Amino acid sequence: MQVPDIIIAIDGYSSTGKSSFAKIIAKEFSFLYLDSGALYRGVTLFAIENGFISDDCTIDVPGLDKAIVGLDLHFGEGGTYIGNRCIEKEIRSLEVAGKVSPIATVAEVRNFVDMKLREFGKKRRVVMDGRDIGTTVFPDAELKIFMTADPMIRAQRRAEEMRAKGDNVNIEDVLKNLQERDYIDSHRKVSPLTQAEDAIVLDNSHMTMDDQMVWIRKVISERFGC
Ligand code: DC
Repeated sequence: MQVPDIIIAIDGYSSTGKSSFAKIIAKEFSFLYLDSGALYRGVTLFAIENGFISDDCTIDVPGLDKAIVGLDLHFGEGGTYIGNRCIEKEIRSLEVAGKVSPIATVAEVRNFVDMKLREFGKKRRVVMDGRDIGTTVFPDAELKIFMTADPMIRAQRRAEEMRAKGDNVNIEDVLKNLQERDYIDSHRKVSPLTQAEDAIVLDNSHMTMDDQMVWIRKVISERFGC
């Protein structure tokens, strides 16, 4: 299948499998995959390690705003990096997950991440997942998908993923974290999580990855005639 050089924006709720789906799409159609949530998680780790966010999630916005100006946050071999340091494991911890949504409400942080994403996506032929890719980062994306799934199914998926990495989590904590994130992400002032008017909804509660790939091939072939 010859897919043209487009931007595919995948937005939706936490743990709907956006990144797994985006990675497979990237592999199948030779697209570059960009994980925007990883950048928010990277800024969160940076904020935790440098004392810009407290245990009760109070954020030193002016301090953080100043400190991120030259922050060398980027993607490299095996995931996300700050400078030479691979931070992929740390940014997936429950501590970062618990603080990332408040950090992502800060307008200065969003501007910083948007700037990075637009720079990385300049050449097109990218698939990007997040919360506001189709609405704010790339409103001109040629294909926008909005992903959703039943919250309990999402919590089970996320818990399994974390257990596989050796984190001993319980399902209630994961579900609570997901619901809190959904709420903050959908209600923040700057770029809240909303479905773009021209996005296609994909509810994958009862779909396998193969089902989703069949679905997207059909969507692409109908829309782009390939
Ligand atoms: O996709 P994820 O779970 O790794 O994202 C982590 C957090 O980052 C999520 O709770 C909300 C925020 N985020 C955002 O606000 N906008 C994006 N485009 C991507 C993520």
